[in-house]
This record gives sequence, C-alpha cells and structure tokens, in this order.
Amino acid sequence: MKGFEVFQTMENEMQKKRILSGIQPSGDLTLGSYLGAIRNWAALADEYDCYYMLADMHTITVRQVPAELRRHTLTQVAAYIASGLDPEKNTLFVQSHVPAHAQLAWVLDCYTMFGELSRMTQFKDKSAKNADNINAGLFTYPALMAADILIYQADLVPVGGDQKQHVELCRDVATRFNGIYGDVFKLPEPYIPKVGARVMSLTSPTSKMSKSDKDQNGCVYMLERPEDIMRKFKKAVTDSEASVHYDPESKPGVSNLMQIYSVATGRTFEEIEREFAGHGYGDFKAAVGEAVVELLRPIREETERLLADKAYLEGVYRAGAERASRVADRTVAKVYKKVGFLPR
Ligand code: TRP
Repeated sequence: MKGFEVFQTMENEMQKKRILSGIQPSGDLTLGSYLGAIRNWAALADEYDCYYMLADMHTITVRQVPAELRRHTLTQVAAYIASGLDPEKNTLFVQSHVPAHAQLAWVLDCYTMFGELSRMTQFKDKSAKNADNINAGLFTYPALMAADILIYQADLVPVGGDQKQHVELCRDVATRFNGIYGDVFKLPEPYIPKVGARVMSLTSPTSKMSKSDKDQNGCVYMLERPEDIMRKFKKAVTDSEASVHYDPESKPGVSNLMQIYSVATGRTFEEIEREFAGHGYGDFKAAVGEAVVELLRPIREETERLLADKAYLEGVYRAGAERASRVADRTVAKVYKKVGFLPR
C-alpha cells in the first residue's frame, strides 16, 4: 500500500464504530458459541472495526491443563478463521499476547468495588462449582473483562445474555473513572443478537448449552464428528406431545431444536412447523442433526486444513497482537498519566 492508501485506510477505521468480543479457549468451541456468537461476528466486518480475542487469561481463573490450553487456543484461532472471520478484516488476537490487558486490569481493580464484584451472578455460580478454588482472579474477573473492552475504546460488545451483567459493570467502572479523570474511556454498549443468541442444552433445554455441562450429550461441538453430532440430536430431549411447534415455555426442547434448525437452514418457525406437520419427532430430530452436520462440515474441514499450517496461524495471531497492542498501549499510556504514574 502507498502512503496515501494507508492513510485512507486509517481514516476509514477511525470512522467505523469499534467492536470487541472474546471467547475463552477453555475447551472445544460449542455449537452455541458458533450460532450465538462467531457466526454473527463474521457479518460485522464491513460495517465495524472488529477485535476478536481469545480470552486465555480468563481461563486460568479455573484450573487448566497447560498443553490442553495451548491446543484449545490454537484450534480456536483456526476455527475463528474457518468460520469466516477474515484476518485481514478483523483483528484476531490472543489476550495474553497483549500485556496491556493485564496492565489496565490492575488499575481498574483499584476502581472496582468489592460489593460490585460480590454481586456478579457468574462469580456466585462459579464459586459454587469450584468451592475448592475460589481464587482472587475469579473474583476480579469482571475487572479484567472491563479492561479488555475499555482498552480498545469499544462502542459495542457482542455478548450472550449471561455476560450482560459484566458489560454493565464495565460501564459503571468507566463512568467512575471518567468522573474522576475526565473522558478517558468510551462507554460501551452490550450488543445482543436477536436470533440464535441462546442455544440450549439438548438434554436439559432450560439451561444454556455449555462445554462445562456434566452431561456431554447435551452439548454439540463445532468440530465434532458427524456421527457423534447425529447421535446427540437423535437423543435430544423433547416432550410427549409429538407436534413440532414453537413454544419455549411449555416445549423448551422442541423450541430449542427449532431455533437451531431455523438458524442452520434460514427457515422460519412457520415453515418448519409446516415441513414437519404429521411427522414424528424422530424425523424432526434427524433433520436438525443433518442440517447441523452440513452447516459445520466445511468449517471443520477448513479448521483441520488451517491447523496443518502452523506458520500461517502464527502469522495471523502475531499480526493481530501487534495491531491490538498499538491501540491498547495508547489507552494504557493515557490511563497511567491520568492516575499519576511517573513516566519512565
Ligand atoms: N467473559 C466472557 C465469557 O466467558 C469472555 C470475555 C472475556 C469477553 N473478555 C471479554 C467477552 C470481553 C466480551 C468482551 O463469555
């Protein structure tokens, strides 16, 4: 690119609103992370300046096996790209590669109240689940997340409903900091997609599909083998009514399958109801399974292809970390100055 073109690109980036989001590489990505998050992200690249992070620093609030964490992180980079996140158009990076996150997180720890952190439902849930390891990081997790967001001066933060409380806390901390030091941080808005936002467990459809679920039949993985995906859908919990129609209150299982089928095929609920009128749940569950297998097949194949090209993946996350650092370092420098740290 010539100097002028570089300048033009920079101008464009500056005018676009900025998006930041992240997923923890704490395991294999689920169908829920794909339909609820990654798939929607890919569509935002032209309109927004997008930063997508692999939140590896958040994962160690719960014990991880080091080699597994490395493998999950690399696989997640490949899966992001395979899902349509073009690394030329999106900044894809690993949180721990950008030290500024940790630097800002410490400062924000000092502007986040004990009471605020104590009220976080995720902290309460996770402490109940990990009673033998309620560490300080688990408690201050939302301050690190606030740093992730504020460090890029993000306008919008695409998250699932379960993370909305953390984005609200982030706004409160930013407002408190701005109140003392002037307009340092932009106030971000949560951005919750309307469709497919919440994929529920196939075996207990009133709770979110989650990789930490004890019943692994409830959770489908993005890179899972077709026969395993089919088996899980065939076992999915429904009800005794034997009629495919949408009613999340009294038919959570069937409604969840309809959601998934609708997002996978682009069909509306009415079309799906018509398609399966007079059919049993067996046909319906097999059709949903097949639609998901076909949706995920090209992504799995592309992820596997990319994983065989380590040099390419390294190039992507290194370039991402460099681009992210340029923005992040600027924010940290500003914050350090505001709080009164002596410049080095
Ligand atoms: N806490 C988020 C989750 O578990 C992951 C995350 C970390 C995140 N930092 C973020 C999401 C910043 C959005 C913005 O889902």
